[in-house]
Amino acid sequence: MDLEKLLTDRLVPAFAAVAGGPVDPVVRRSPRADFQSDAALALARRLGRPPREIAAAVLERAELGDLCAAAEVSGPGFLNLTVADGALAALVGGLAGDERLGVPVSAAPERVVVDYSAPNVAKEMHVGHLRSTVIGDAAVRLLDWLGHRVVRVNHLGDWGTPFGMLIEHLVDLGEAEAGRALSMGDLDRFYRTARWKFDTDEVFRQRSRRRVVALQGGDPRTRELWRLLVEQSERYFLAVYALLDVTLTGVDFRGESAYNDRLAGVVADLDRMGLLTSSDGAECAFPPGFTGRDGAALPLIARKADGGYGYPATDLAALRHRTDELGATRLLYVVGLPQRQHFAMVFAVAEQAGWLRPPARAEHLGFGSILGADGRMLRSRAGDSVKLVTLLEEAVARATELARAKNPGLDAEAAAEIGRAVGIGALKYADLATERTRDHVLDWERMLSLDGNTAPYLQYAYARIRSVFRRAGTDPRPDVQIVLAEPAERALAVELLGFAAVVAETERTLAFHHLAGYLHRLAVTFSAFYERCPVLRATGELRESRLLLADLTARTLRQGLHLLGIRTVERM
Ligand code: ARG
Repeated sequence: MDLEKLLTDRLVPAFAAVAGGPVDPVVRRSPRADFQSDAALALARRLGRPPREIAAAVLERAELGDLCAAAEVSGPGFLNLTVADGALAALVGGLAGDERLGVPVSAAPERVVVDYSAPNVAKEMHVGHLRSTVIGDAAVRLLDWLGHRVVRVNHLGDWGTPFGMLIEHLVDLGEAEAGRALSMGDLDRFYRTARWKFDTDEVFRQRSRRRVVALQGGDPRTRELWRLLVEQSERYFLAVYALLDVTLTGVDFRGESAYNDRLAGVVADLDRMGLLTSSDGAECAFPPGFTGRDGAALPLIARKADGGYGYPATDLAALRHRTDELGATRLLYVVGLPQRQHFAMVFAVAEQAGWLRPPARAEHLGFGSILGADGRMLRSRAGDSVKLVTLLEEAVARATELARAKNPGLDAEAAAEIGRAVGIGALKYADLATERTRDHVLDWERMLSLDGNTAPYLQYAYARIRSVFRRAGTDPRPDVQIVLAEPAERALAVELLGFAAVVAETERTLAFHHLAGYLHRLAVTFSAFYERCPVLRATGELRESRLLLADLTARTLRQGLHLLGIRTVERM
């Protein structure tokens, strides 16, 4: 049951009657009561009445008697609402038997395409791909849990002119050796060597150019070599996904090359609609509202001067495929902020072309960079960009070490399991708990700390509750009567009833730091409850009630972390 929604539903008709039209009561948690509604303040000017008077009129009409113990006008015109203990206890009790913890499945399920991860063949995944993969995975988990039909698309960079030099380098190395290097994750060296030969060796450069032509012309042998590059890289990426514990699989790869057959059609259709202009031999769209620093209209290149198609054309074809063929109405692109303008222009052109029209809409979920402790772009000691696997392995190693130090009796297998859950969880959480568009600093100490807004803190809170049940020697019983005797247990009840609202908000905004912040608040509130309200030493009804509150907290933490792609462990 969503407490905020319940209160909102009671206030809506009262506000409508007073305002003479629909009003959002804007109910939110309040420092003065349980909840507050601020809508009267915004209405005052429109209605030409003092806000306190409006708030009082709303209170008179609102049916709150069974839900609220107190409802009063305060300050300049807030409505302060205090939920009645009886209602609170009944609502929390209702969560116990609900597997979904009060979160309904969507009443209007959609087909959603999530474009995320998208590394490039024969190139190492870097920290930008880490963020995309982690955020995209959370979006997929959340939307899927809410009943949407989610299509994962891993828009692999598997096409373009660099493949000429990559294939020629593969030929030089021999297929077996090249395959080994790539699937083992020696991508950077492979790419750099190819690049170096291209830059320094005229003969190699000629071969590479011919190879691009052969690839585009569909030469069977060239396609075979290209497939090898793609497959070995995919195999490596899947190993990284397994380590990262995300839900992407081999069937989710739909690389840029998948749209090759549709590119000519995209350009022809744009041309037919009169949306293209020739500019220095290239065919360009100029979506309205995009200008460069000099004020000149910015082009989105549909076909290059050499007749080839590039990244923008591919994205247009992919978007059209997603709306027209997959029938998606929500298109998400989890890609770094530097590509903001690219996507804004692609969406604008797709709208002009009629490929993106309501109810379908596209959202670029842009994100900031991961910085090193020095506040600069993350680099290895040698000054290279950091290899993603190295980062993941370090996270697991550090967390395993901490688990061992904290609990020397732990056997190796248990320590490894905790190390994985906590290390990978910490890395994901540090990302998701930060506002998406902000840069965040990779700080091992902080993100692995058992204190603060961290994964280990939440995982520990979960494990601690599980240990209470081990000591109690009982399983939680869902059918007990909730007793709210202490303020701390009342506060916990209110917090537990807030899960549905934060999930609903996250569904809309995909701003996962709100969900993370909620889970942290829940764990902190539980901690205060646990300090003030003895659980195992309580008796009878009170003990049962407290055990149930503890169990609901554990279940909410586990579900919330699961939505973020983070595992819980039973002991820590
Ligand atoms: N492969 C690109 C990169 O590594 C990201 C692709 C993002 N998705 C898209 N539809 N353009 O930067």
